[in-house]
Amino acid sequence: MNITIINGPNLNMLGVREPTLYGSGTLKDLENYIMESSKRFNNVHLEFFQTNHEGTIIDIIQNLVGVANGLIINAGAYTHTSIGILDAIKAVNIPTVEVHLTDVENREVFRHISYISLVAKKIISGKGFDGYVEGLEFLVANFSEQQ
Ligand code: DQA
Repeated sequence: MNITIINGPNLNMLGVREPTLYGSGTLKDLENYIMESSKRFNNVHLEFFQTNHEGTIIDIIQNLVGVANGLIINAGAYTHTSIGILDAIKAVNIPTVEVHLTDVENREVFRHISYISLVAKKIISGKGFDGYVEGLEFLVANFSEQQ
């Protein structure tokens, strides 16, 4: 099973960015943690992307057709604004898990809206790095047959 993990805007700033909210681990630490955790699954291959650009996220999602059978996305602030990313996920029809490091439901009201949640098979928030691993487990458990 091929799973792509996309981290959106400002997630390259992990470790520096508001550490009381997002923790002290860097994006590299996050990717290494997910990669290590994935080793217990047979035949799971991961690919990581991070970009600050909405259009680039859409390009990456479009390019997943025929390549990935699962997507984990933390679209950062674009979660709350981007119909374009929602439409891209709908277009490719790849099982998608939406992840947030923080508990967005218990933050500012503008973070309560998520366009991606309209199409996500699962939404995980407030679990830090472990949220991505939970997303991975969910995709492997439910969608590894669809290769
Ligand atoms: C975030 C939550 C978003 O509201 C915020 O804009 C982010 C990160 C999270 O991981 O908790 O950039 O997606």
